[in-house]
Amino acid sequence: MLQGEGLPVASVTEAQRLVFSTSEDLDRAWALGVFYLKISEGLHLEGAREFGRGLLDVDSPYRRIPKYGDLEGFIALENNQQTKLALCRHHWVQHYPADIAQFGRELDLLGIAVIREVFRQSGIPEAMWSRASGGYAAGEGTAFLNFVHYDTRNPDLGLRPHTDYGFVTILDASAPGLQIDVDGKFVDVPVLPGHLVINFGEALHFVTAHSERSVGAVVHRVLSQKYSDPVRHGIVYFANPDLEGMLWQFDAKGEVKGSSSVQDLFTLLETNLTEDR
Ligand SMILES: [Fe+2]
Repeated sequence: MLQGEGLPVASVTEAQRLVFSTSEDLDRAWALGVFYLKISEGLHLEGAREFGRGLLDVDSPYRRIPKYGDLEGFIALENNQQTKLALCRHHWVQHYPADIAQFGRELDLLGIAVIREVFRQSGIPEAMWSRASGGYAAGEGTAFLNFVHYDTRNPDLGLRPHTDYGFVTILDASAPGLQIDVDGKFVDVPVLPGHLVINFGEALHFVTAHSERSVGAVVHRVLSQKYSDPVRHGIVYFANPDLEGMLWQFDAKGEVKGSSSVQDLFTLLETNLTEDR
């Protein structure tokens, strides 16, 4: 059976291009919806990890960042162990230390490199990439930079099975627990030192659905974390379309095959999720 050690590994070149060592690796990454990304020297990850560890302290002032709606601020989710500090891009400078806001912009570049390679593979003409992605492929759209940890006083799953709704998720986790669904079975995605985990989300599936090469959103979960386990904390970056924006489906000829407001797509996903439960 496939194990995480066998997951494909990619890197981003100085020219900001996502590359795999072989085309078979790219094929497998596209089929699975998940792969490892080698951490480049330019990424200021250590400082961000330290910032995340600092949030474990119940007296951390960053736990008092106010909530903006349901998605931002210091949040404990229902039905799972995850607790997080979540902020989208336009709040980074206001609330995160300068080096963390800068780290978020470094992750923006990785997210853009990933989505651009997905579009390149899809055959959709480059002139349509920005519009198809609600601006994200051109450096706009929305991004969340979240610092998560798991509250083991809660006996639930770490994180219930789900797909991510956005384009691309970038994960740096400190301990095991992540699993992906491969042909109906959950398999481990071990922490691979020196690498981040990338997975594709629903919005990316939507915008490539009529192209020559679509990608799927991988179903994943986080196993229940025990009190005796090392504390699992991590950094999660979500590359998303703007909630008020539109997504467009193009084919390889550059013709529009469909569209949806982001709100409608996310509402539909939420409905399907509820029906599956
Ligand atoms: Fe997720």
